[in-house]
Amino acid sequence: MPTINIGTLADLPDGTGRAFEINGRRIAVFRVADEVYAIDDTCSHAEASLSAGEFDPDELCVECPLHGSLFDVRTGVPRTFPAFEPVASYRAFIEGDRVFVEYPA
Ligand code: FES
Repeated sequence: MPTINIGTLADLPDGTGRAFEINGRRIAVFRVADEVYAIDDTCSHAEASLSAGEFDPDELCVECPLHGSLFDVRTGVPRTFPAFEPVASYRAFIEGDRVFVEYPA
């Protein structure tokens, strides 16, 4: 699976998330210490950007800013309604000070 370097750790401070454009898709990437997690940025319920929601690094979930569903950033699975379908998740990792995401070709 192709891997892309989306930036450095300085682009993604600990405990935060933001969206990156990867291969024509918006992917939300979240960081907790030396772990990074990547899921589709668009909510599975309606048009909302998950990276614009509140990220809880302790619970590893992000709250959709539109209707408040909580999504697990490890799996993309919603923990609460109204969303009930998962968003896609991608393998993400840190090497040195660079952040990588694997994405489907
Ligand atoms: S748009 Fe995300 S929960 Fe409705």
